[in-house]
Amino acid sequence: MEENILNPNLIEDEDLAEVSLRPKRLSEYIGQTRVKESMKVYIEAAKKRGESLDHVLLYGPPGLGKTTLSNIIANELESNIKVTSGPAIERPGDLAALLTNLSENDVLFIDEIHRLNKSIEEILYPALEDFCLDIIIGKGPTAKSIRLDLPKFTLIGATTRVGALAAPLRDRFGIVEKLELYSVKDLTTIIERSSEILGLKVEKEAAKELAKRSRGTPRIANRLLKRIRDYAMVLGDGSLTLDITKIALDKLDIDDLGLDDMDRKILETIIYKYKGKPVGADTLAATLNEEVTTIEDVYEPYLMQIGFLARTPKGRIVTAAGYEHLGIEYIN
Ligand SMILES: Nc1ncnc2c1ncn2[C@@H]1O[C@H](COP(=O)(O)OP(=O)(O)O)[C@@H](O)[C@H]1O
Ligand SMILES: [Mg+2]
Repeated sequence: MEENILNPNLIEDEDLAEVSLRPKRLSEYIGQTRVKESMKVYIEAAKKRGESLDHVLLYGPPGLGKTTLSNIIANELESNIKVTSGPAIERPGDLAALLTNLSENDVLFIDEIHRLNKSIEEILYPALEDFCLDIIIGKGPTAKSIRLDLPKFTLIGATTRVGALAAPLRDRFGIVEKLELYSVKDLTTIIERSSEILGLKVEKEAAKELAKRSRGTPRIANRLLKRIRDYAMVLGDGSLTLDITKIALDKLDIDDLGLDDMDRKILETIIYKYKGKPVGADTLAATLNEEVTTIEDVYEPYLMQIGFLARTPKGRIVTAAGYEHLGIEYIN
C-alpha cells in the first residue's frame, strides 16, 4: 500500500509517540456510547462477582480505538494485560507459553485475531471454554495427552474483518462489540482533547473542520492534527486557526470531506472504467492494483458512511451524491 497519511493501517511509531494521546480510562474514551455503556456494566458485574470478564471480541475498521479500548478494559478491571497478535502466534507452543503464563483474571489481548492459524485456534477452544490446555507429550505410539488447568482469564480479540473469523471461534466470545466510525461532534471532542494534551491552542471551528476531514477515524484525526501543528508553527504563532487548518489540509490533498486520491480513484474507476455498472471488490482491487482487504476495510466503510458508495448484490456502485461530489453528471 502506498504511503498515505489517511491510511489508518499505517501505525508507524505513531502509537509509541502517541502513548500520551491514548485514553486510559473509560471516562476518557470519547464516543462509542453504546459500546462504552455495555462494557461498563459487564466490567462492574465481573468485578462485583470477583470473576473474570467474559471473552470480548471488538471489531471495526482500523484506527477506531480497538487497541485503546482493550487496554482500558484491563485497566478498569485492575488486571494485567498481555498483548500479542494473530500472526505473532506461529506455533502451538507459542500459545501454550502465553496461556500458562497468565494469572487469574488477566487479560490476554490478541490483535488481528482473524489471522490466527487453524491449528492454533483449536488449542484456543478448550482454553476459552473450559480454561484448560491439552498438550501432547512425546511422539508416535507412546505419545500421551495431558490436560493442564489454566487460570480464569479474559481473552480480548480485535479484528477489522469479523467475517474472516471461524464461526466456532466467534461463538466463544460472550461479548461481541462493533466500533462505529465517529461523528464529527465526537471527533471534534477528540481533537480538542488531543490538542490540550499536546499543549496546542485550537479554534473550535478549526477542530470542527479537521474533524470533518478525518474520515470518522481518531487515528487519522490525531495524525492530521500533528501535521497541521507544523504548519501553524511555520505560518502563524503556533495556534490552530481555521485558515491555517484549511491551508494545511489542502496542501495535504485532503478534500472537504476527507477524501484523498485513492477514494477518488475508486469512485472514478467505477464511473469511467466500468461505466457506472456494479463492480465487484476483487475486480476493483485488481484494476486499482490495491489489496482487496485494503479497499474493503480502509476505503469502503467511509465512502459508504458518507453515502457515496453503495453495495448491491452485483457489486459496488457510486451514488448520485458521489457523482455530485466529483462534479460528474449523474446519468442513471
Ligand atoms: N474513543 C476514543 N477517544 C479518544 N481517542 C481515541 C479513541 N479511540 C481511539 N483514539 C485514538 O486513536 C488512536 C488509534 O486507536 P487504536 O486503539 O490504536 O485503534 P485500532 O486498534 O482500532 O486500530 C489511539 O492512539 C488514540 O489516541
Ligand atoms: Mg489496534
